[in-house]
Amino acid sequence: SGYWVVVPAAGVGKRMGADRPKQYLPLLGRPLLSLTLSNILTWPGLSGIVVALSADDVHFPHLPEAKHPLVHPITGGAERADSVLAALNFLATHASEDTPVLVHDAARPCVALDDISALLSEDVSPIALLAQPASDTVKLSGVEQGCAVVEKTLDRNRIWLAQTPQRAPLGLLHSCLRRGLEQHAAITDESSALELFGHSPQLVPGRRDNIKVTHPADIVLAETILRLRYA
Ligand code: C5P
Repeated sequence: SGYWVVVPAAGVGKRMGADRPKQYLPLLGRPLLSLTLSNILTWPGLSGIVVALSADDVHFPHLPEAKHPLVHPITGGAERADSVLAALNFLATHASEDTPVLVHDAARPCVALDDISALLSEDVSPIALLAQPASDTVKLSGVEQGCAVVEKTLDRNRIWLAQTPQRAPLGLLHSCLRRGLEQHAAITDESSALELFGHSPQLVPGRRDNIKVTHPADIVLAETILRLRYA
C-alpha cells in the first residue's frame, strides 16, 4: 500500500517575469515550493516525494522540507515531461511497477485534502486526474492575415481543464512517458502521455481554487485562498 508523489519543480517561470524561479517566490512569506511540499506531507498514506529540480537550483537546500526523510530531490530536464521522467527513473529503483504515483505541480500549493481523497478513492480508476469543467466557452484558433481568428467553437459541455495531481501506476506511467518523449509528442501533462497509448484517464471533478500559480496576479489569489482556508 501507499503511493508516491512526483513534484516537477525545475521550471524557470518565464511568464512570471520575476528575479527568481516562480517555485521560490514568497507566498504568505514562504517560498511557493515549501508551501506545496508541506501540504503534500499532510496527505495520509504518503510513501515519499520525488522533487525534480533544475540543475542550477541553489534555493532548495534552504527550504525546511529539504531535510524531511520523505523528500527526495533529483535533477529534472528541459521540459516538464523530462523532469517527470527523471523522477520516475529514480522511483523505478525504489518502488514496484504497480505503485500508485501522483504527479503534482510545484505551482499548485492550494490543492485541498478532499480533492486528494477523491482522487485516491477506491471508486476511482487507478488512471485518473483532477480536472475542472470549463466555465468559459473555448475557441480553437487559426490564423488569417497574421491575426488569430476563431476556427471553431468547442462544445463547452465536453471541455474540462486539467489540474494536478494526476495518478497512474508507476510502470505504466514510466513507459508511456518514455515512449511518448521518444516520439517527440507534445506532452504537457501525464494524461496526454497515457492517451497516446490508448488509455482514457478518468476525470475527477476538482475544486476551482486548485489554481496553478503562473502569472503575477495568481500570487495574490493563491495567498487569499490559503488565508481563507487556514484562517
Ligand atoms: O510552466 P508550467 O506552469 O506548466 O510548469 C508546471 C510545473 O512544471 C511547474 O511546477 C514547473 O516548475 C515544472 N517544470 C519542470 N521542469 C521543466 C519545466 C517546468 O519541472 N523543465
